[in-house]
Amino acid sequence: MSDLGAKLLTLLPPETAHRTAIWGMKQGFGPKASTPADPILRTALAGMELAHPVGLAAGFDKNAEAPDALLNAGFGFVEVGAVTPRPQAGNPQPRLFRLREDRAVINRMGFNNEGLDAVKARLEARQENPAPGIVGVNLGANKQSVERGESAEDYAILLKALSGLADFFTVNISSPNTPGLRGLQSGTVLDDLLKRVNDARWAEPVFLKLAPDLSEDDVDPILETVNRHRISGLIVSNTTLARPETLQSKHAGEKGGLSGAPLLEPSTALLKRFRKSAGPDLPIIGVGGIDGPEAAYAKIRAGANAVQLYTALIYQGPGLALRIRDGLADLLKADGFERLADAVGVDV
Ligand SMILES: Cc1cc2nc3c(=O)[nH]c(=O)nc-3n(C[C@H](O)[C@H](O)[C@H](O)COP(=O)(O)O)c2cc1C
Repeated sequence: MSDLGAKLLTLLPPETAHRTAIWGMKQGFGPKASTPADPILRTALAGMELAHPVGLAAGFDKNAEAPDALLNAGFGFVEVGAVTPRPQAGNPQPRLFRLREDRAVINRMGFNNEGLDAVKARLEARQENPAPGIVGVNLGANKQSVERGESAEDYAILLKALSGLADFFTVNISSPNTPGLRGLQSGTVLDDLLKRVNDARWAEPVFLKLAPDLSEDDVDPILETVNRHRISGLIVSNTTLARPETLQSKHAGEKGGLSGAPLLEPSTALLKRFRKSAGPDLPIIGVGGIDGPEAAYAKIRAGANAVQLYTALIYQGPGLALRIRDGLADLLKADGFERLADAVGVDV
């Protein structure tokens, strides 16, 4: 799918456009990276070797339908999911809104996905001929499990079933659209959850994905719990419940998580806060509002070892991955860096 194709898709209702985009990627209509990434971008992330640090965030390919096409389109890594143990329909439609004037999106999808068995079968099928690059799986809890206080069990089931089929996993407790899920981000509940996760995990790195709406006081207790249970790293951040006063779009009042340009500043500030307390060694993936090389570079300088994006793709098309990849190499060189790792956290 070309960038022009992606722009035409924005004329369709959002979910139709999204389904068409996935279909187009599966048919091989996506862009193809014709040149390798500049070696300055090569980096390690929780023991994984990335050719470059620009990744696709969770929620675009929820059912692992097109990870190889997405890697071939120029992402250094792709996170599929969220997958939950049982298939789930999600919230009633409409549940995805474009805030075009704000270069943003509000979604309240509610973990719609085909469930563990379907995703597992697709991940197994791709093992024969995987595209080069890294594939992670975003893990979610079924709505009923969260209601019953049994979400830890869901993450354990998913980790056990999918280990060996992906390069990393993300424990997502920060989606705002499953009532109660974000409550897992603090105190003894987080402690119990991460203990279960650590018991269930196998060899692959496990990241914890956090909400941008956490407060200053949440940072140190989360880091302490993450370290105690040997969680590999953090993803900062998911979508926000905040509604900045600057929003112009008529959809600004919709319920759900806001992503895209208005999320850049608050998610980068939280990332910086985590990097400051964590020190240089904890792997952190920076997400939220990245729409070009400058924003990706700002995340790296604020402490991200790698970055992910989703919303800007809706407006700019899949060629954006390569534009950010190549623009980031230019920005690093212009500032005299010899490798990406040297720029991580320089603004902290
Ligand atoms: C439609 C939609 C669905 C999403 N689904 C998930 C999900 O299943 N799991 C998750 O961790 N994040 C999900 N996200 C959040 C993104 O992965 C990302 O953290 C967030 O959108 C901020 O990045 P962005 O501003 O580049 O979009 C979703 C975002 C959108 C817009």
